[in-house]
Amino acid sequence: MSEFKIGKLTLKNNVLLSPLAGISDLPFRIINRQFGCQFAFTEMVDAASIKYRKGVKICKLETIPEDSPLGSQLLGQDAGIMLEGALFLQDRGIDLIEVNASCPARKVIKKKAGAFLMKNTGRLKEILKLLAKNLKVPLTLKIRTGWDDNSLNAVEVALLAEDCGIDALVIHGRHCRQGHQGPVNYALIKAVKERLSIPVIGNGGIWCGRDALLMFEQTGCDGIMIARGALGNPWIFKEIDVFLSQGIILPRPGWDKVKDTLIQHLHFLINKDGVPLAIIKMRKFFRYYLKNLSGRKKIVSLLDKAKSEEEVISMINSLQD
Ligand SMILES: Cc1cc2nc3c(=O)[nH]c(=O)nc-3n(C[C@H](O)[C@H](O)[C@H](O)COP(=O)(O)O)c2cc1C
Repeated sequence: MSEFKIGKLTLKNNVLLSPLAGISDLPFRIINRQFGCQFAFTEMVDAASIKYRKGVKICKLETIPEDSPLGSQLLGQDAGIMLEGALFLQDRGIDLIEVNASCPARKVIKKKAGAFLMKNTGRLKEILKLLAKNLKVPLTLKIRTGWDDNSLNAVEVALLAEDCGIDALVIHGRHCRQGHQGPVNYALIKAVKERLSIPVIGNGGIWCGRDALLMFEQTGCDGIMIARGALGNPWIFKEIDVFLSQGIILPRPGWDKVKDTLIQHLHFLINKDGVPLAIIKMRKFFRYYLKNLSGRKKIVSLLDKAKSEEEVISMINSLQD
């Protein structure tokens, strides 16, 4: 994996961790960074909520020096409010700002934000021009292949975005109607890559080193972005590195390693949020870490009753591979 430049930002490699709403908080990012992730995003930030309820956003932006470089993704559809949000993030030390034109959630589309911007290219242009003109930190855009099978307009949107002055483009190789399921359209990512001069980052369906290679080979993209592949599997960054550089498939870690990481993740969460909230948040991570364990369902249901870190740790220790 090689050094990777996005505008004036130089990253140690070209494998990035995707923004994941409800997931990519500080403990999640730190766990992934420990295993080789070099660049991460905060959880997505709604530009309007920065404008109207700043306190909520400040907790999403909690970070520490090891959590660097750090990007933040903005959601919205009003250029002025997006700029205000972007400047707020920049002032708080965020290293890169990304505009979300990829979210398919109904409540987001209803507000004409996220992937809806791929249909409203006039508005997208207005937002990107304003942000590119006023930001000092690099600006990226995350798009999909299009709205649906009949409107695969990624190339047109990508060219427009490059013309507005973005520093790199992320493309999730599925259209909005696919959500997060279905095949990844490598051909369209390739078509986008062939038309742009700025770096193109391919995303979608990367679960292991082989998938990472497939994305690079099929599309010629400059970088890749990992999303669900990192859930309960922070080792994916190392796995990809070793596979791309040496062609070796590292075995997935055994239960002892998974257990240690799970306990460490829990500990970070408890330090940040206190026991009750940390246990609530940990439920979703348990599902991923314990994917292949038979006692998984039982522990997730018992977790609600736990009152302390020690109780949760003893439940984890009671699980057998
Ligand atoms: C729980 C969850 C939260 C997500 N949150 C965001 C988000 O905030 N912003 C975004 O651009 N994409 C988000 N995504 C989409 C991923 O970043 C990624 O584009 C998608 O999952 C495809 O990659 P994958 O097939 O490797 O998972 C989210 C996906 C999941 C599963």
